[in-house]
Amino acid sequence: MCGIVGYIGYQDAKEILLKGLEKLEYRGYDSAGIALLNEAGTHVFKEKGRIAALRNEVDPQVTATMGIGHTRWATHGVPSRRNAHPHQSGNGRFTIVHNGVIENFQEIKRDYLQDVYFSSDTDTEVIVQLVEKFSDNGIPVEEAFRKSLTVLKGSYAITLMDVKDRETIYVGKNKSPLLIGVGGNFHVIASDAMAALQLTNQFVELMDEEMVIVQSHSKTIKNLSGAQIEREPFTVKLDASDIEKGPYPHYMLKEIDEQPSVIRNVVSKYQDRNGEIAIDSNIREAMKGSDRIYIIGCGTSFHAGLVGKQLLEKMADVPVEVHVASEFLYNRPILSGKPLFIMISQSGETADSRGVLVEIKKLGYRALTITNVAGSTLSREADYTLLTHAGPEIAVASTKAYTAQLAVLTILAYDCAKAKGMDIGFDPVGELSLAANAMEIMINRKEKMEEIVWSYLSATRNCFFIGRSVDYFVCLEGALKLKEISYIQAEGFAGGELKHGTIALIEEGTPVVALLTQASIAGNIRSNVQEVMARGASVCMISMEGLEESSDRLVIPKVHEYLAPLVSVIPLQLIAYYAALFRGCDVDKPRNLAKSVTVE
Ligand code: F6R
Repeated sequence: MCGIVGYIGYQDAKEILLKGLEKLEYRGYDSAGIALLNEAGTHVFKEKGRIAALRNEVDPQVTATMGIGHTRWATHGVPSRRNAHPHQSGNGRFTIVHNGVIENFQEIKRDYLQDVYFSSDTDTEVIVQLVEKFSDNGIPVEEAFRKSLTVLKGSYAITLMDVKDRETIYVGKNKSPLLIGVGGNFHVIASDAMAALQLTNQFVELMDEEMVIVQSHSKTIKNLSGAQIEREPFTVKLDASDIEKGPYPHYMLKEIDEQPSVIRNVVSKYQDRNGEIAIDSNIREAMKGSDRIYIIGCGTSFHAGLVGKQLLEKMADVPVEVHVASEFLYNRPILSGKPLFIMISQSGETADSRGVLVEIKKLGYRALTITNVAGSTLSREADYTLLTHAGPEIAVASTKAYTAQLAVLTILAYDCAKAKGMDIGFDPVGELSLAANAMEIMINRKEKMEEIVWSYLSATRNCFFIGRSVDYFVCLEGALKLKEISYIQAEGFAGGELKHGTIALIEEGTPVVALLTQASIAGNIRSNVQEVMARGASVCMISMEGLEESSDRLVIPKVHEYLAPLVSVIPLQLIAYYAALFRGCDVDKPRNLAKSVTVE
């Protein structure tokens, strides 16, 4: 959460920083700021709200060849201009931007900075004040910066400028992602390569507890003991056009539309020369050798994990538990003898999931990360990685990453079953291709979903999604999509649970979306529909071909029952999209959220 960008080179830094921040806005967008350093000093511009608001604040006359910038998702201190980064030390000498959380900021204030006046409510400000304190005590700036980093507890990606040094940006990293982009005679610093792709595709990765002294022509990486570290750049294979909206009004709609081709792409990435599904043999062995799988994820990735549990248990006959990452460490289950952990994370940076990974690695267990981002923290720190190959997902609400996760879980379950010598009579290549076609059919029926929104959601403040078995898991995802972007209070429920309490919420006109894709639960879910209708609910029934009744509102094409979630989630994503549009909400950047959740 929060995005940072820095530049030192020969071009005007202002536009580079603003464009970079626009690309990082998905990481947080409640306030933003930049600092430019030139011969006249440090010029700080900040504003509450989006980068567009910041642009209006920035003085076009100010030019500089170095600067740092930040887009914020508030943790400590309300979103405001006062709390927006950059922050400066008391005498204005040092200027900082920071992504992360300084857990011991109160202790630092007490132990080092009792006499200091703070001009913001952020945890970040202690860092810049600390550097100034050490520097005022005669410690050279590099050493003052290093010493400050050793005092910090928590997560940080930091860039710092010294008004007395127009050649250097100081960088520090722990647990929050940060890359250094390398150019011929410039360096660019960014939370995500996307912010700098217009300048370079060569990036150097930073590890935890490292600092870098960045100049136009050089960069020196050191650990916090001061030892120098050599590291070669890697090439980021993203094309700048991959992250453009193109003709679409919103990234979310583009990403929904991309899903059939994403599924086809996933299949092709996991096919061998003979067209057979084959995954890395180390992963196969790890799966085979495990007596229980523990899936860990948050939000949409957790929902994918619930579907993954069914796929793995049904296809590969392996017991699976699924846990919300943020709860796992408090409620740690008694682990089996040979557990294997599967971390599911679109971004590969989610702090809650990483917290679990760090703990289970300490215990000596192995982990596989399923992620969309090669080289992400969760990928680097796990033993194995399976990529979801969905391409960059920019909209805050996850869509194509979810269906790509389901496709990878299908492939993993199938491969595991095959490795165990089980004959499950399931052709993953053929069935996933059929599912991709069915997804396309649903995507081409957008007007139906618009109609549903008009009929059921135009004047409601709440909405319930009900399903059983795997449909229930998709309902959880449908409800999350609707609430996060349209702000309609939406909940997914297991159909059978309604009568145990929730049905009390049903009143005249309450919209209920019911999902039915599994023959085995058809009778029961239809009974649940009758129960809510009898209490006045307005029911939108979505069923799969072969299970439909004439009164159903939407029928989705028939696919293999294992793959039904790939198709049934499409109308729910589109319903959320049109509901948000109808209500005038910011579809791609819903309030209070950020795409990459790097705080616990
Ligand atoms: C919802 C959504 C979030 C993420 C969650 C985990 O649309 O996107 O619920 O799924 O924050 O993020 P990742 O998958 O990056 O770990």
